[in-house]
Amino acid sequence: MANREQIPPAVQGEPALGFSSDNIAAASPEVIEALVACNAGQARPYGADELTARVAGKFGELFEREVSVLLVPTGTAANALSLAALTPPWGSVLCHRDSHVNNDECGAPEFFTGGAKLVTVDGAAAKIDVEALRIAARAKLGDVHSTQPACVTITQATEVGSLYEVDEIAAIGEVCRASGLRLHMDGSRFANALAALGCTPAELTWKAGVDVLSFGATKNGVPAAEAIVSFDPAIASELAFRRKRAGHLFSKMRFLSAQIDAYLADGLWLRNARQANAMAQRLVRGLRGVSSIEVMGEPRANIVFCRLPQALIEALLARGFGFYHDRWGPGVVRLVTSFATSAADVDHLLGAVRQAIGAGSEDGDGYEKGDEA
Ligand SMILES: Cc1ncc(COP(=O)(O)O)c(C=O)c1O
Repeated sequence: MANREQIPPAVQGEPALGFSSDNIAAASPEVIEALVACNAGQARPYGADELTARVAGKFGELFEREVSVLLVPTGTAANALSLAALTPPWGSVLCHRDSHVNNDECGAPEFFTGGAKLVTVDGAAAKIDVEALRIAARAKLGDVHSTQPACVTITQATEVGSLYEVDEIAAIGEVCRASGLRLHMDGSRFANALAALGCTPAELTWKAGVDVLSFGATKNGVPAAEAIVSFDPAIASELAFRRKRAGHLFSKMRFLSAQIDAYLADGLWLRNARQANAMAQRLVRGLRGVSSIEVMGEPRANIVFCRLPQALIEALLARGFGFYHDRWGPGVVRLVTSFATSAADVDHLLGAVRQAIGAGSEDGDGYEKGDEA
């Protein structure tokens, strides 16, 4: 069976340029150097080492308060364990229809919560609408036949590259507080959101009512490490036991900690995120200059959704460009940049777009006339 995830291989000697995901990038050299540097001598196991303590201290400084920090290897683990600590098995987790927890975690949130139900709440641009949330927060309250609203999870930056403003998070936080719900943030692309919004990590999270943050790093320069950052001391030890029970307590924790330590050092994480965001904006500017392409929504992080004529999609795939194009309806393409995407990479894609359109126009395909397949 053909692997639909596969990035099309290089064609006719051209390098395959991947815009399929930020997961396809390598890691930042600084992080790899830190991994090599920590690969010497002995260190206490299971997170009792000095590097892990240093990372905890760094998160405390970053968020301007005491936090508990647990490192895990994947974003799915961070999300599922966080949600499990915030939701009883008879609870419901209110999330957006387009969220990663709803679509891409293979039931891990349901599994780790012991059977809690994911309930979707609508909203434009993959963001939960606060009025819809207000209604969902009260749905079937006290009805013993129904799961009870317990937790809200929002994704920042969202799966379509949009962002929650700080006051939008605060409004959701207020609904949560008034309804006795907990608030989780899937910050798989937290750095991209922070870099674009220019606020502080504290303003974007606990000051707006977030109880637990899945702090992503893997998509932004780290080989494999994410952090669960809890702003609620009452669930810190529960999270620790849940992580062990889930098999995510690394004995050689220093290797995870070294990654996050280097990621947070000298602003690397924000530098990387700014590069990814800037490349997405470069892409958006270029695509907006092509009349047969519609840039969908207002991408502000490193994900761009657009609508392309089918013939143009085929032409780009044939040239070896990699992107997802068959998941969201006819002509809808997702382009993702990363810290490793260069201006030349973006310009190469835009050049190929213009070239394909030119070729299409010459032989009468007329992409520029809005030829949708
Ligand atoms: C919004 C979001 N959350 C979480 C994740 C984490 O996923 P993984 O378990 O693959 O690290 C991803 C990865 O695609 C994501 O896009």
